[in-house]
Amino acid sequence: MREVAIISAGMGHFGELWKLSLRDVFAEAALEAIDKAKVDHLDALYVGNMSAGGFVGQEHIGPLLADRIGMAGVPATRVESACASGGAALRCAFFEVASGASDLVMAAGVEKMTDGADVTEVLAMAADQELEAFHGVTFPGLYAMIARAHMEAFGTTEEDLAWVAVKNHRHGAKNPRAQFRREVTLEQVMKSSVVAEPLRLLHCSPVSDGAAAVILCPLDQAKKYTDRPVKILGSGFATAPMALADRKEIAFLGAVQTAAERAYKMAGIGPSAVQLAEVHDCFSIAEICCIEALGLVEKGQGGKAARSGLTALGGKIPVNTSGGLKSKGHPVGATGIAQTIEIFEQLRDEAGDRQVKGAKIGLAQNMGGSGASSVIHIFGRA
Ligand code: COA
Repeated sequence: MREVAIISAGMGHFGELWKLSLRDVFAEAALEAIDKAKVDHLDALYVGNMSAGGFVGQEHIGPLLADRIGMAGVPATRVESACASGGAALRCAFFEVASGASDLVMAAGVEKMTDGADVTEVLAMAADQELEAFHGVTFPGLYAMIARAHMEAFGTTEEDLAWVAVKNHRHGAKNPRAQFRREVTLEQVMKSSVVAEPLRLLHCSPVSDGAAAVILCPLDQAKKYTDRPVKILGSGFATAPMALADRKEIAFLGAVQTAAERAYKMAGIGPSAVQLAEVHDCFSIAEICCIEALGLVEKGQGGKAARSGLTALGGKIPVNTSGGLKSKGHPVGATGIAQTIEIFEQLRDEAGDRQVKGAKIGLAQNMGGSGASSVIHIFGRA
């Protein structure tokens, strides 16, 4: 396999983008990446998207989006793995370049969630329809059950959950592209309205529109396009039983652990080498479970990490310096690429007030549904 680098990135503001259509949100990010790399063609396009059909009534988006950016003719594929669609698209692009089949490939993600669809119902299609969604359980409900199981198994408290939100809003306040660019206090989180007990409004990622795009090429060609390419060191993908009831442990994310083992093995490193991570905090309990499954903290210790400052900017292992899904926003299909862009910018010293000084290795962990799929990439300065 060839070594692969990311050479450029494009991403607009996340939020309620009512004036832009699905294709326009995508074009803003994709054309920024193309302009920055100064490329006049792409060999292929992979777009992560969870449910354009459900959210805006549009399927077959590969050709639609390729045409919108003046690339009609290019092979263009939509990749779906629920909220891990962006990470899955990156993995497809990575292997296409690594295999030698293509030299210039875009991995993008886009979602338009605020155009009037019943968002909760569309999202619930990514749960087990027969065993969960049909009976009325929603994603906040599923993660509430995970939170409850974690509390019972490890003594995690509602305050521990709240600290994740406080930390990620603090980070997101420094991110110009974040949906919620404001800090919140512990008290505000603890008093926000209950969505699915014990999860409150400020434990939840929001409903968002947004897109993100990166361009990949072989590492030995990357210096033609940029003086600071970022290398993809490892890629791991794994699945787990869809329904919570079918899992051995509800409070442990097996797919994240397996995907991480695969990514670490390919990168030739262990968790202790990771200097910063973007993880899938769709609900605050998810960040706690993800850092445990990634091996960044011991099993059962995730609840203490945000409160102690370990995972804050300036801490030993900063997590979600972008603000995470909580504060930056979560246009589901775009999230995996947005996470990648935060690490890309950090490893190029472009993260401004959020910069983790001297970071050389970063990880992005993207997750589908309540953890039935997870895609992990590890990146390094080239
Ligand atoms: N965090 C912080 N503030 C939020 C927010 C969030 N997640 N969601 C909404 N708000 C704010 C809005 O900006 C609005 O503020 P304003 O009154 O000052 O304008 C207010 O709360 C009410 O917004 P509204 O859109 O009416 O909220 P809602 O009650 O319809 O939705 C949730 C709130 C939590 C139910 C919704 O954001 C949600 O479903 N989130 C989870 C999404 C999800 O499951 N993603 C997939 C993960 S697997």
